[in-house]
Amino acid sequence: MTELRACVIGHPIGHSRSPLIHKYWLAVHGIAGDYTRVDVPPKDIERFFDEFPQSGYVGGNVTIPHKEIAFRKVVEADPVARVLGAVNTIWVKDGKLHGASTDVHGFIANLNRSQPGWDGRTKTAVMIGAGGASRAIAYGLLEKKVQNVIVANRTFERAKEVSAHFDNRLVPVALSNVAPHLREADLVINATSLGMTGQPPLNLDLSPLKKSAIVYDVVYAPLETELLKAAKARGNPVVDGLGMLLHQAAPAFERWFGVRPEVTPELRALVAADLAREAKR
Ligand code: ATR
Repeated sequence: MTELRACVIGHPIGHSRSPLIHKYWLAVHGIAGDYTRVDVPPKDIERFFDEFPQSGYVGGNVTIPHKEIAFRKVVEADPVARVLGAVNTIWVKDGKLHGASTDVHGFIANLNRSQPGWDGRTKTAVMIGAGGASRAIAYGLLEKKVQNVIVANRTFERAKEVSAHFDNRLVPVALSNVAPHLREADLVINATSLGMTGQPPLNLDLSPLKKSAIVYDVVYAPLETELLKAAKARGNPVVDGLGMLLHQAAPAFERWFGVRPEVTPELRALVAADLAREAKR
């Protein structure tokens, strides 16, 4: 039997947990396949994608900093990727490169799973950050018909750009003026990489926040960020970023290997243990 091979493409890529996730599912489903990390520096990425259909891979994930160039390299992208201008999943069909974005699905499925009924209770969402992740999150919130979506960013101009990207359906604010919006919030999301190991924490004053407001951090290393610790301590429901990573992986796996895998507590525990091991190092 030929072995099906997929990969995750980024730079740097050493810390990616995607191999752990996909190899777990390959084993669970008894599929003869492999999933590896491929470090491709920006200078080589165009050629890498050009040669991908002949590489023997059935597909791959694309991560920082290559998601936008991947979007430009595919012959066809799914509707979500077209709105985001970014692709995190590629596959080869008829000798050509195709792409999709599963980040919106990952963000929403994680929220659905950990806070069922959240959308019925969420009138106002405050999203912090205006980088890559924020567009996928804004897309998901608008699709779920959240009435007020506030994008708060250190650089106000970038918050305005994200809103403009979605036909000005978001409310852009400067991060320094976020407090009155936090008072109204039913959901607060950290869409920046602040709080990640090696980065400064997101110093957000949570005191204006209702106790019922959900606090969601897209950062998953560490699993419990300072933001989530503070939110938990004052009794707010919290959602960590690991679920988003696991849920965005499921439709990609299905695309390459033909089986829709489950995000199980066992898989979550496996990846969480790996993150904890690294935190100790
Ligand atoms: P990318 O743009 O590649 O997605 P990111 O690290 O995921 O990068 O996201 C950067 C986000 O973190 C931005 O919203 C950035 O704010 P600016 O647009 O003002 O740069 C935000 N960010 C980074 N460092 C910050 C800090 N010290 N305080 C507040 N926001 C910060």
